[in-house]
Amino acid sequence: MIDLEVKAKSRTYPVRIGSWRDWDLRGLLDLESMGAWALVADKRVWEHWGQDLLSAFGSAGIDPAVLTLEAGEPMKSHDSVFQVYDFFLQHRLKRDGVVVVFGGGVLGDLVGFAAATYQRGVRYIQIPSTLLAMVDSAVGGKTGVNYRNHKNMIGAFHQPDAVLVAPEWLLSLPQREFRAGLAEVVKCGAIRDPQLLTLLEEADPQRLLRSTVLEEVIARALAVKAAVVGEDETDMGVRHILNYGHTFGHAIESATSFERFLHGEAVAIGMVAAAQLSTRTVGMDPEAAKRLEALLVRHGLPVRAPHVDAENLMELMTMDKKASAKGQRWVLTPEWGKATVSTQVPTEEVRRALTYVLES
Ligand SMILES: NC(=O)c1ccc[n+]([C@@H]2O[C@H](COP(=O)([O-])OP(=O)(O)OC[C@H]3O[C@@H](n4cnc5c(N)ncnc54)[C@H](O)[C@@H]3O)[C@@H](O)[C@H]2O)c1
Ligand SMILES: [Zn+2]
Repeated sequence: MIDLEVKAKSRTYPVRIGSWRDWDLRGLLDLESMGAWALVADKRVWEHWGQDLLSAFGSAGIDPAVLTLEAGEPMKSHDSVFQVYDFFLQHRLKRDGVVVVFGGGVLGDLVGFAAATYQRGVRYIQIPSTLLAMVDSAVGGKTGVNYRNHKNMIGAFHQPDAVLVAPEWLLSLPQREFRAGLAEVVKCGAIRDPQLLTLLEEADPQRLLRSTVLEEVIARALAVKAAVVGEDETDMGVRHILNYGHTFGHAIESATSFERFLHGEAVAIGMVAAAQLSTRTVGMDPEAAKRLEALLVRHGLPVRAPHVDAENLMELMTMDKKASAKGQRWVLTPEWGKATVSTQVPTEEVRRALTYVLES
């Protein structure tokens, strides 16, 4: 069991990583102050692990009302938010009520947003079931839904009361989703924790899911996310480094209609491009850039996006919502474990870095 703390400005909360059997919810949560419980779960996750979760709650005397929903990006809509509000109302959730969300990033964002807005905000607990959600979306308090065709357009910052991570629940996750989540883990290592990269270089990709190292891998990535969120809760400065590889990655996802690559896969390719850009602009050792590429390949992630048009990508990147008034902000790594943000990157260098990952 590994315990971390997220010290955001608005709230400090615990993150517990380890088997659900050892969670000890009574010791972790202030149950006395908590009213009715409403749990919203991803249907597929519930089928696999719902009984385990109910046992974990049951041993703390908690018996939540349960709603299961299909997952998938289209679920991040207002219609789904209304469905969740109806569920809360039906079970008479009041301001002292507690919402639990059990699923991947889609459910986490959706239900987190419902919790942020229902009665001007009720407490919620994140129980992530994908690797991406465990190391990324469950921590940090960003919640929201898509609006028309704009991703995460409507949302709120609302920090959870606790995040509970049981790595064993990843056993049912499709392998491809697991690998895609690993890209976000690699990202955390790349920007803040070079030892995490070493750990992944030494780990056996075939056995990682079942090995005891997984808990440490998740904890280290989470520690990076927690630290960055603690420094910049509302995304005004340093939190931007969590977008390492994402400007390239988002453009690649978008240019391939969100069909060819999972988000993490596009981020893997994006990080290879970002590392190339770093060798050209902030003196990253080209051998270090190759090392990242080898690590991604080792864990079954793509590092090239052949047959994607460079000019289309260049255009998509200038439209990236993260482009500030001052211009596009690039996250660069002079060395592994150090990230800087720059708006002064020549377009030609961006094009070269991009060309590198478009070659077949
Ligand atoms: N809030 C944030 O800070 C933040 C950060 C990153 C991403 N996100 C959001 O996260 C979303 C993506 O999240 P995701 O990748 O977790 O996708 P997801 O929630 O859609 O889950 C992926 C798939 O895996 C299934 N699944 C989940 N857990 C499973 C398990 N244990 N066993 C079997 N199947 C399981 C789901 O049903 C779904 O089909 C996006 O909407 C993105 O915008 C948010
Ligand atoms: Zn990401």
